[in-house]
Amino acid sequence: MSYPSPIAIDGPAAAGKGTLAKKLGSHFNFACLDTGALYRGVALLVLQAQDDPTDSQKSLEAAQKLDIDKIDHTAIRSAEVGQAAADVAVHQGVRSCILDLQRHFAANPPAGKDGAILDGRDIGTFVCPDAPVKLFVTASAEIRAHRRWLELSVNDPSLKEADILEAVIARDKKDMERAIAPLRPAKDAHLLDTSDLGIENAFEAALKLITSIGG
Ligand code: DC
Repeated sequence: MSYPSPIAIDGPAAAGKGTLAKKLGSHFNFACLDTGALYRGVALLVLQAQDDPTDSQKSLEAAQKLDIDKIDHTAIRSAEVGQAAADVAVHQGVRSCILDLQRHFAANPPAGKDGAILDGRDIGTFVCPDAPVKLFVTASAEIRAHRRWLELSVNDPSLKEADILEAVIARDKKDMERAIAPLRPAKDAHLLDTSDLGIENAFEAALKLITSIGG
């Protein structure tokens, strides 16, 4: 049985997009691309070179060097890299480099996979505007900050939840207010508020929707 591909999942930081994408990916045998990891990968290269992520030229050079297979998936998860990712993501040159990678992945999922799922901020609006399934996953800033704190405080017990909340709100603002491909639901996206939904219920809701669209 084949299901509609690609699946586009967008939403703000720590809304549960990644977890949902992985669960849907293993259910449908679709390959997942965490597009935030690409911006984080660029941000990490900029920080490692001790450059400024608000510098468009330095950020573009880093994006051109990005090797998707060499991203350090532990180092990119830090709060510092998250903020820097939102900074590099405002530059048109960076977005163009990453756009090609994402569209290629959406159209050519790796061998053995039956489709692709991309999660990010602008998948349904810009990267894959024709995606047959678009989800916009959200949750209150407080709940998202709490989830991020639970995730990050394992490695850094000194982290304060209030500081994370402040950072989440600042990042939402940056992502929603940037001029190019800002964070917003596509007109035809299905909204999924995970504030009061556990991941299992969010998964069930998404599954119901996707199977009603195709199969
Ligand atoms: O989802 P995340 O926290 O890993 O994303 C990090 C940053 O990358 C986010 O603040 C903005 C940027 N981003 C983007 O601009 N477009 C995407 N499709 C994905 C992420």
